[in-house]
Amino acid sequence: MITLREAYIQQKTARKPVVSLTAYDYPTARLLDEAGVDLILVGDSLGMVVLGYPDTTSVSVADMVHHTRAVARGVERATVIADLPKGSYDSPEDAIANARTLIEAGADAVKLEGGEEQAGTIAALHQQGISVFAHIGMLPQHIREEGGYKIKGRTPEQAAQLLADARAVEEAGAFAVVLELVTPPLAREISAAISIPTIGIGSGEGCDGQIRVLHDVIGLYPWFRPKFVEPKADVASVIQEAVRAYADDVRHDAIEP
Ligand code: KIV
Repeated sequence: MITLREAYIQQKTARKPVVSLTAYDYPTARLLDEAGVDLILVGDSLGMVVLGYPDTTSVSVADMVHHTRAVARGVERATVIADLPKGSYDSPEDAIANARTLIEAGADAVKLEGGEEQAGTIAALHQQGISVFAHIGMLPQHIREEGGYKIKGRTPEQAAQLLADARAVEEAGAFAVVLELVTPPLAREISAAISIPTIGIGSGEGCDGQIRVLHDVIGLYPWFRPKFVEPKADVASVIQEAVRAYADDVRHDAIEP
């Protein structure tokens, strides 16, 4: 049997784009799997779009386990990845222990944020047989230090660092790498420079696959939508129209006192 990394390198070599979306519960995970999505990420974005926090930094391992179990129950075919939340991989030992917990909850692999500085942790996980999805560029778990969602790779120094980060996570054994908010020409250059697939979000079309937060794609989080997302539906309006119709029925059918 081939490893996850070999399978994803083969998919890149065959030039088959990797279709990826987030899911956080059983019904949406099952719908995505049945629709043919390759990779389903139980992202710590659940902190924002499901739990109502302002960013991803308050998500716990317990939150991730709860949602990973629900997603795994709904998926038969796609690769299920669970995010290691902020603070859960500060040492390789913590990373291994928390990744094992997420794998036991049903994930096929874990994702963590960081490039060169996380290469040792990625290598430690890989040596334990735990597949790792890396994440470089804009790192949402560092949003408070960064002060916003900023595009990465605009200066020659940043571009050189991102290329080094991509090479470091590949070398450490990651099976794929998210490029978040990386300038499109640099994302294309990184994609050509490494053997593992690059999965872009806000990084243009030159990546080997794309990932989006499901709520942005289906219009389920109308209060904030990143500029780079083209919504394919307006589910928030569908829900509100259905709820208003239901409310009208209830109020209309109510027995007069
Ligand atoms: O948490 C998440 O959903 C993510 C993706 C947007 C890449 O990290």
